[in-house]
Amino acid sequence: MHVRHNVYALRPGGPKISALRAGVRAMKDTSTFPKDDPRSWSYQAAIHGSTRTPPDRQARRSWNMCQHASFFFLSWHRMYIYYFERILRAASGDPDLALPYWNYSDPAQRALPTPFREPAGSQNPLYVSQRQAGINAGAELPASDVSAAQMFKSRNFLPSQGSRLSFGGGRVPEPAHFSSFTGLLEAQPHNTVHVKVGGWMGDPNTAAQDPIFWLHHSNIDRLWERWLDRGDGRANPVNNAVWMDTKFAFFDEDGSRIEMSAREAIQTATQLDYVYDDEPAGAVGAMGSSGAGARVGVDGGSLAPPAPGPDDAEEPTLVGSTGRQGEEEMIELGSEPTRVAVELREPAAGQSGEQRIVLGLDGVQYDENPSVTYEVYLNLPEWEQPDYRSDYYVGNVGFFGMEAGGHGEGGHGHPANLSFDVTDNVRALRAKGEWQERRAHVSFFASGLIPPPSEEVSVAEAEARSATPTGRPRVERVVLSVE
Ligand code: C2O
Repeated sequence: MHVRHNVYALRPGGPKISALRAGVRAMKDTSTFPKDDPRSWSYQAAIHGSTRTPPDRQARRSWNMCQHASFFFLSWHRMYIYYFERILRAASGDPDLALPYWNYSDPAQRALPTPFREPAGSQNPLYVSQRQAGINAGAELPASDVSAAQMFKSRNFLPSQGSRLSFGGGRVPEPAHFSSFTGLLEAQPHNTVHVKVGGWMGDPNTAAQDPIFWLHHSNIDRLWERWLDRGDGRANPVNNAVWMDTKFAFFDEDGSRIEMSAREAIQTATQLDYVYDDEPAGAVGAMGSSGAGARVGVDGGSLAPPAPGPDDAEEPTLVGSTGRQGEEEMIELGSEPTRVAVELREPAAGQSGEQRIVLGLDGVQYDENPSVTYEVYLNLPEWEQPDYRSDYYVGNVGFFGMEAGGHGEGGHGHPANLSFDVTDNVRALRAKGEWQERRAHVSFFASGLIPPPSEEVSVAEAEARSATPTGRPRVERVVLSVE
């Protein structure tokens, strides 16, 4: 069994990091793996996305395959990094090598792990100069970017019929490089971390060229497992045949083309031979009694009860939105806070137990990675400082894979719809007398990086502090609904 470790628990000069470096170096070495060998570093990255023209038929069928803003997001990336890890292990010469993960949600682990920034320079295969300067100088990701609160709170892998809020992303009938309904885990911390690392990581067409990509996705994959462990109806959508049986192509350590579907990848320990170092006791690698039910849909020999409300819930009711129906009033986000009013046609109920009040952002898009994320607040009074720990805080938006103009082969992305559960916010605001049934306000605050405490490099500091967006980040519409 391979164990994926927290990278902060590994000594920068120790054997595990050395093996990781050796594997990455070998995959990048074009005398070992020519560029068009499926096991080469650049080919592996191109499977995710690429602006290059695929050199042959096999590459045409294998490149630009990453699955974003749909329910394939988690399963596709799991299979992708699993096969990458096998190639990396073989290339490293260490039969025990496993991908570490970067757990930025821990306040002590919010700087890019040291081996990825030191030594700085091409002799370090984990170093990438294109990243935001602050990140390579040890600046920290802000707490709100890496908050997993929204995604842990949700209990539905799939959205309710006709609704939009979900842990795992919207249903699609077939693979979609970029679709339009982003799941909660993909939105935050996945998208936000891509944006903040920046450089190659900021664009799906180059993201997987940065070695930290693989540790980022190892962490996202781990968060999926930890979400399942929370029980209470959280389960993989094993009754959805499209999710379970759609096959995707990858390459193994021999360079052979292999197909795999989610059905073959829902139990990491027994099917893929790996676990994370933080498996809760009793549920190790999904073999424990509680874990297996959530993962494969079998609990005590019978089919798991459907998660609360997935397929039989009522249609969501649109309570209000910005602008008038059918009229497009683009909400442009800049370095100054943006505040918009949402007129409410009817009270947002959300009093009964299972009913959720959902804040939706429609048509989220940009022209270029803005290098900042946005904190979103509900009814934050104009005189009040934004604080992500307050009842006003909704979630963060990271602009990744939502490029407005779909560009030819592969494309860069597609405007996306994001959703946040604001039931608790509305309840708290009602209790404080700060909720009006006719109108709500939603505000956006740009967020940069937190400079390292002792940082003296002024360039890095200036960049880290500045939260000046480029690339025209914008949102078509803010909606409030009840589902
Ligand atoms: Cu397909 Cu983190 O990206």
